[in-house]
Amino acid sequence: MKEKLEQLLARGREEVNAASDEAALQQVRVGLLGKKGDLTAIMKGMGGLSPEERPVIGALANRVKQELEAAIDQRAAILRREAIAARLESERIDVSLPGRSGWRGSKHPITLVTEEVAEIFGSLGFGIAEGPEIEHDFYNFEALNIPKDHPARDMQDTFYIDNDQVLRTHTSPVQIRTMLACEPPVRVIAPGTVYRRDSDLTHSPMFHQVEGFLVDEHVTFGDLKGVLTNFISRFFGDGLKVRFRPSFFPFTEPSAEVDVECVICRGAGCRVCSQTGWLEILGCGMIDPEVFRSVKYDPEKYSGFAFGMGLERMAMLKYGVDDLRLFFENDVRFLRQFA
Ligand code: PHE
Repeated sequence: MKEKLEQLLARGREEVNAASDEAALQQVRVGLLGKKGDLTAIMKGMGGLSPEERPVIGALANRVKQELEAAIDQRAAILRREAIAARLESERIDVSLPGRSGWRGSKHPITLVTEEVAEIFGSLGFGIAEGPEIEHDFYNFEALNIPKDHPARDMQDTFYIDNDQVLRTHTSPVQIRTMLACEPPVRVIAPGTVYRRDSDLTHSPMFHQVEGFLVDEHVTFGDLKGVLTNFISRFFGDGLKVRFRPSFFPFTEPSAEVDVECVICRGAGCRVCSQTGWLEILGCGMIDPEVFRSVKYDPEKYSGFAFGMGLERMAMLKYGVDDLRLFFENDVRFLRQFA
């Protein structure tokens, strides 16, 4: 029996150390020390021992049992530590890992230009007004001295909603709305979206304008020229060639258009400026007395100027963009450059 016990101790140690997790170790324990385990089986032979051998074997059996229990406890502690370490490793969070950065948007170039125009005119004392994009014939045309048979009302150019309503073709109706609501002096700009049946390299059916106008006593064309020249040199920086060219609008008299040197070709002529070297950026003039009459301003007492500029053109010139369509395609590779 002594030999059997010693063999059990040796084999038991090996089995304990080979147990690879807590469940396996529990099985090993039951097999060695359980009620139907190996130790119990050996101890059944106690009855056949002499009275002298019995206490010796009994003491040995006790030692074997204690040593196996100690080995099991030790192994259990190691397995528990390993399990915790494995779990910590698998759930580990590296707090020093750089965060996944979010997608940062940027303002659309037309928004940037609108804000800059508003800021410059704001510093000259102009407030901001707005009007609807679906506009009555009266505000878009009639009150602006555009008679029924004027070519600007041609079906070619205007999106009609019905007989009386259009998608506004310019921001000039905001002049009428503002003048009907306020007495002079008024000094306002009106940025907004406008629509025309027009689409090519330099025209989009939807585009943006900023209207501006000023009404007071003794306003002259010199004031108009001074304000616009100041604005243009602040917006584009000094050194860009500018010209005022006589023109016609039904709601201004006299009227002019303002061209700036084409920044794409620096005046040499390219597809953007149709080989002229110039790009028209705005129309302007002294507000026609007919317009004052339709908003009940006294044309003998008041005078004023108005202008309307195309924001896409301004943005093309400012940022050197040679295709108008880029502003409407929403390609992030383009838009990102304005971040
Ligand atoms: N409304 C004109 C246009 O769209 C521009 C303009 C505005 C001209 C104000 C003169 C005065 O072309």
